[in-house]
Amino acid sequence: MQRWSIGVLTLIAFTLLLFPLSVQAQSDEAFIIYRQKLMRANGAHMGAIADILKKKLPYTDHIATHAQGIHLVSKLIADAFKKEITAGKTDAKPEIWQDWEKFTAAADAMGKESARLAEIAQSGDMQAIVAQVKKLGGTCGDCHKPFRKPKEESYKRQQ
Ligand code: HEC
Repeated sequence: MQRWSIGVLTLIAFTLLLFPLSVQAQSDEAFIIYRQKLMRANGAHMGAIADILKKKLPYTDHIATHAQGIHLVSKLIADAFKKEITAGKTDAKPEIWQDWEKFTAAADAMGKESARLAEIAQSGDMQAIVAQVKKLGGTCGDCHKPFRKPKEESYKRQQ
């Protein structure tokens, strides 16, 4: 009985010892991969909306949910990019941290237009939906242009 308790106590002690280590082990790479995952979520939602519209999938009632997904991502962008990391497999430009307010304003603009799309999508007015999707797409470009490396310089080309 006593041996068992010592074993349990040792296990707890080890867990407590190891836990802070694993928390400290976040590498710059982990931050980069996380912020890219948020962006890929944006890409997946926008891609899904485009497929619904262009391929005439019977999911127009999904558009509002995809727009809400993008809206939720917009709330995480400032936090996800707070740590300045420009080296490694990233397309983030140093300008993000030189002009932080403009960067977060660009995230807010995406948040605003995605919320608007979620509203308009409920109306079922296809013309208005398409126009708002374009407007939302514009907010992606408005941030990528100043703050993301162009395709030719992307980490994806440097394998
Ligand atoms: C506030 C600025 C900002 C907004 C708004 C924004 N992006 Fe991005 N996006 C970035 C930055 C910066 C990167 C590069 C991140 C990196 O490589 O570390 C990026 C990268 C990406 C990537 C590539 C991710 C990867 O795997 O490397 C995709 C896809 C993407 N964005 C899609 C979108 C879409 C779609 C929207 C609009 C719905 C959008 N983004 C809105 C700043 C933004």
